[in-house]
Amino acid sequence: MFDSYSVKVGEYYDQVNDLTRTMFEDNIHFGYWADPLGGGSLAEAGEAMTGQVIARLEASAGHTVLDVGCGVGKPAVRLARETGAVVKGVNVSRNQIEVANSLAQAEGLQDRLVFEIADAMNLPYADDSFDRVWALESMFHMPDRGQVMGEMARVLKPGGRLVIADLVLHGTLDDTAAAVVEQFCFQSTARSVEHIENYPRLVEKAGLELIDLTDVSEETRSTGEAVAPTFDMLLDAIGEEGVAAAKKTWTGLFDLPQYGYALLTARKP
Ligand SMILES: C[S@@+](CC[C@H](N)C(=O)[O-])C[C@H]1O[C@@H](n2cnc3c(N)ncnc32)[C@H](O)[C@@H]1O
Repeated sequence: MFDSYSVKVGEYYDQVNDLTRTMFEDNIHFGYWADPLGGGSLAEAGEAMTGQVIARLEASAGHTVLDVGCGVGKPAVRLARETGAVVKGVNVSRNQIEVANSLAQAEGLQDRLVFEIADAMNLPYADDSFDRVWALESMFHMPDRGQVMGEMARVLKPGGRLVIADLVLHGTLDDTAAAVVEQFCFQSTARSVEHIENYPRLVEKAGLELIDLTDVSEETRSTGEAVAPTFDMLLDAIGEEGVAAAKKTWTGLFDLPQYGYALLTARKP
């Protein structure tokens, strides 16, 4: 049984599949610039973000890993190739899952890399099934972050590790900032943006132990400027005014002093 908001998110990604694939070159998440002033393309920064998450996961051959909200599978392909782990990816977008399974085939990884449709709100796996779980920028879509944290904790084996990369907020929002975040959420079918200080509580409530919570807001902030020009691809579909509005909504978020991004690592006792 899928949550109705999860169905909506799946339909959104089905629709924007080609567009987001081109925009983000299949790493459908914010970029990570180790030196925010040092330049570097969005594609490189997207790979660097995937690298940050893989490093925190500490997966190896013999491990089974669950990728929650797997996009078109590019990060999972890299994870499977670099670590030798068996990887399962789940997602609510049929079009993305189709691309992801073709990618696994094309890479010759289909024996240990499989993608399937499932809602993170109700993961169709037994308790204690996975050595590692990651959610690379899928949490902001979730209808109930606490429930998904509980599900990820449930399917993790004792001693297993969870890594989350998520857009977060710092401090309080005035009305103007709240409107910017709301617009961004509407444009991206994000359900909510969590305050960074709430994450340790969510981890604890799910029965996990926090290992590390790293604030990478400045390393990811250039995503706004790097992605904005790609909205020009929508010119035929939504016209000049539409493109300008979409860019403004997108960059507005990254210009906020409250903008943030966090990398979190936790373990199941
Ligand atoms: C921003 S994209 C990140 C994709 C991928 N992790 C990557 O980094 O390339 C968010 C992904 O989360 C998936 N997603 C959103 N809500 C979900 C849910 N309830 N259950 C499973 N996947 C979900 C979306 O379909 C999409 O693939």
